[in-house]
Amino acid sequence: MDKLIQPRLEKLGAYPFERLKKLFSGAIANPTLSHIDAGAGEPRLPLPEFVQDTLNANISGFSKYPATRGNAPLPQAIADWLKRRYGLADIDPSTQVLTANGTREALFAIAHALVNPDAKKKPYVMMPNPMYQIYYGAAVTAGAEPYLLPCVAKHDFAPVLDEVSTETWQNTAFVYVCSPSNPTGWVANRDYYTRLLELADKHDFYIVADECYSEIYWQDKPLGLLEVAQGLGRVDCERCLMMNSLSKRSALPGLRSGLIAGDANLIARFSKLRSYTGAATPLPLQYVAAEAWSDEVHVARHLQVYRDSLKAFFDVWGQGDIPAGSFFVWLPVENDEAFATAAYEQQAVTLLPGSYLGAEDSDGYNAGSGFVRVALVDGVEKAAELAARLKKVRV
Ligand SMILES: Cc1ncc(COP(=O)(O)O)c(C=O)c1O
Repeated sequence: MDKLIQPRLEKLGAYPFERLKKLFSGAIANPTLSHIDAGAGEPRLPLPEFVQDTLNANISGFSKYPATRGNAPLPQAIADWLKRRYGLADIDPSTQVLTANGTREALFAIAHALVNPDAKKKPYVMMPNPMYQIYYGAAVTAGAEPYLLPCVAKHDFAPVLDEVSTETWQNTAFVYVCSPSNPTGWVANRDYYTRLLELADKHDFYIVADECYSEIYWQDKPLGLLEVAQGLGRVDCERCLMMNSLSKRSALPGLRSGLIAGDANLIARFSKLRSYTGAATPLPLQYVAAEAWSDEVHVARHLQVYRDSLKAFFDVWGQGDIPAGSFFVWLPVENDEAFATAAYEQQAVTLLPGSYLGAEDSDGYNAGSGFVRVALVDGVEKAAELAARLKKVRV
């Protein structure tokens, strides 16, 4: 390897969907059935009605440079949503909110704003295992050591905090939390966030909550990190950042629009990095995003589809619990790669092997192995059909 080339990238494996392509390279989907893609977490619902009109009305914005922090009216629309959704006492759109081009890039970039790559001892970045793989890639490329918090059925898939040593906490830069969780559907409760905040204060680290599935839940509306923080008297959301997205809530993954909110000091730091990386959202898209954060009618409609889809899937599947949040079913299987391949070949269904969403711990154990992730993103009928087809899979 060229001595001047960044070596950290070599530590990353192929992205899950690349691995899936490779797994299926010699396989042929059952040609007698129509293909169902339950692999990607890409909502496939009709475009909310306001999108086209808002885009048309603001199309001239493509001839202007947008601001990195976001232009009016988007930061205010985001702050208003945060207050409505989480009952926040206050959140200042000019100092506590940033716009993002989807949360994926922001979740990646944040590690580069919070990790000291020159620290004597490599800092840890904690993350759930299995996880949205961006956390891992971000930690490694920022010069940190990923620290995996196992999420297992025995603990309802909550990332386990109590087995972490004091020394490890002391050397932690920040912790990623994903609630509702992709892929397990776990949702953080008040006690969990409270405990994490206590640890953050005690050991001087930050918390980055990825809450992009917050509007997709089975029964109780998920709590947010900022609301728990403010409820504990941390009015400035000290040490906390949360991210959210229009990709899931509004079924607009192609809009590439998300938000970052929380501690003004962290926001200022991140904003400085972003002014160099140039992560500004095009103006016409900001207008669409402002509309999307201001409208709950389409969100309620989407939620109903996801709930009906989950119910339809489990009615046919006949066992297991509906996840508390997200539109993913985290299905236990004997061998995840073998099951995914059989589902593709026998039933023309694409699923993601769980091990592709996990990482191996120091004992070589991958907490995602033995599961497949099924994304219910194609509506109610397909969800029922998916369950019926998966029941017939034989490995
Ligand atoms: C847990 C989680 N976080 C973040 C994202 C990124 O979404 P986006 O970049 O579309 O906002 C995804 C997308 O699948 C996800 O599953």
